[in-house]
Amino acid sequence: MMRRLPLLLIPFAFLALAPLMSERPVSADEPAEAPFIPSAERGRKHLLETPYVPWHFDTETFENLWKSWPEPLRAEAEKASPEQRRRMTFTRYGFTARSGDESGLPEQYSIDKEGRWAVSCLACHSGQVGGQRIEGLPNAHLALQTLAEDVLATKKLLKKPMRIYDLGTASGQIPLGTTVGTTNAVVFSIALLQYRDKDLNVVPPRSRLRFPHHDLDAPPWWHFKKRTHLYIDGFAKKGHRELMQFMLVPQNGRDKVLEAENDFRDIKAYLETIEAPKWPHDIDTVLAKKGEGIFAKHCASCHGTYGERPTYPDKIVPIDVVGTDRLRLDAITVEERTIYSGSWFTNYDPKGVRTDPGGYVAPPLDGIWASAPYLHNGSVPTLWHLMNVKARPTLWKRSTTGYDKERVGLVFETLDDPAKLPTEKSARREWFDTSKPGKSEQGHLFPERLTDEQKRAVLEYLKTL
Ligand code: HEC
Ligand code: HEC
Repeated sequence: MMRRLPLLLIPFAFLALAPLMSERPVSADEPAEAPFIPSAERGRKHLLETPYVPWHFDTETFENLWKSWPEPLRAEAEKASPEQRRRMTFTRYGFTARSGDESGLPEQYSIDKEGRWAVSCLACHSGQVGGQRIEGLPNAHLALQTLAEDVLATKKLLKKPMRIYDLGTASGQIPLGTTVGTTNAVVFSIALLQYRDKDLNVVPPRSRLRFPHHDLDAPPWWHFKKRTHLYIDGFAKKGHRELMQFMLVPQNGRDKVLEAENDFRDIKAYLETIEAPKWPHDIDTVLAKKGEGIFAKHCASCHGTYGERPTYPDKIVPIDVVGTDRLRLDAITVEERTIYSGSWFTNYDPKGVRTDPGGYVAPPLDGIWASAPYLHNGSVPTLWHLMNVKARPTLWKRSTTGYDKERVGLVFETLDDPAKLPTEKSARREWFDTSKPGKSEQGHLFPERLTDEQKRAVLEYLKTL
């Protein structure tokens, strides 16, 4: 029966179970619970081990994914040793191996004892740059849509049953990301909120179900400790519940979300401990010192100061002033932010939620060398291109592990003509096309006030942050 339900109705099947899942009343003579003390160490472990959403595929599917790759990749994989094939698989989807663990499994999924894989926060929030894995680094190589399509095709080959995610992929209704390294993440949380009342109960969708889908580059987690509010528009006040939006798939009933609350207190504690990585190459300290002065004059009012006693203004810059792509800002309405502001997520306290932010937060720039590409949509491949607005590429493709020490950021190639883009879907997604909605590379013209000499000095200084 279930299989024939249209996709959007599937959550209602779970409503029927709601009365059975209500919370147990607390009796007066039970001893009060000891206060919960969050642990960063447990938080890190949860991210790797605890599934917070239903699983998507199993290990057998993972090991056979190559069978659904386009040629000539498939033929290469067929001839490869299992270890080479595993590496090819990691490269295709942007996976990194778990650190200090010989399992050969990626950290982007939590995998249970039965070999069932559930997507984890680390899918988007852990990756490598220049071949170096860095804790909390946005995954600039994740190919989530390509993975979803390959999983669906491989399950068909292996005659395995489809799961809820496969229905989304097959229907094409839930695009996960159109460019490698970026994901359609924020729309998920807002779309998923449509299925909840303010107390988290699963309900029929409230208003719209069609969203301006657009892709975002995740922010580095080492900024978390400096932020008072989260996301590029700084709309949500920082707290552990805000981190739980990812769990809102309708299969997770209210109780399942509530049960995970302490885990997310741990995860929040872990996020607060992450440090920005240090630039691993040489620095021209004289030039960087010069850059520090220029930065103080032209950049610090928005981005703060660094060094011994750092300051961070956490400032929202009006969209017309920053001038970067505005789709992300417009995609969430004031009404939707207001619904969120009076819900369980804020503990029913609307204070602190910015329902009409009107712009983007100037992010901290600690470890900025590592978190290429730049801007909230990941449209600019290097810091040099961020500083040189007219030189920003319009159609570009990142290399897998290349790192450009001169221009500070990703090694990439460009195309002059969109007609030359590959037609095969997964290969096309490797190209960042700035002409697409939400993907503009324009704006943030502030560095244009500097001379070339000054830009060079600021670029050197940025390496030291
Ligand atoms: C599919 C990719 C994806 C997954 C999975 C994901 N995130 Fe994110 N995350 C993003 C993107 C993209 C943003 C930026 C959203 C924005 O600014 O609008 C983000 C933003 C954040 C931020 C805000 C950081 C800041 O400085 O503003 C935090 C914290 C965060 N995510 C934590 C988590 C946690 C914890 C999980 C798992 C429970 C998770 N994310 C799962 C992609 C993802
Ligand atoms: C008026 C405020 C303001 C000033 C001045 C300013 N910025 Fe920014 N900057 C922003 C905002 C807002 C963003 C986020 C824009 C976005 O992602 O769409 C940003 C983004 C950036 C980023 C990309 C961050 C990332 O993680 O992708 C870098 C790097 C940066 N700025 C460097 C500079 C430098 C260097 C200067 C001085 C020459 C400067 N900014 C001046 C507001 C400012």
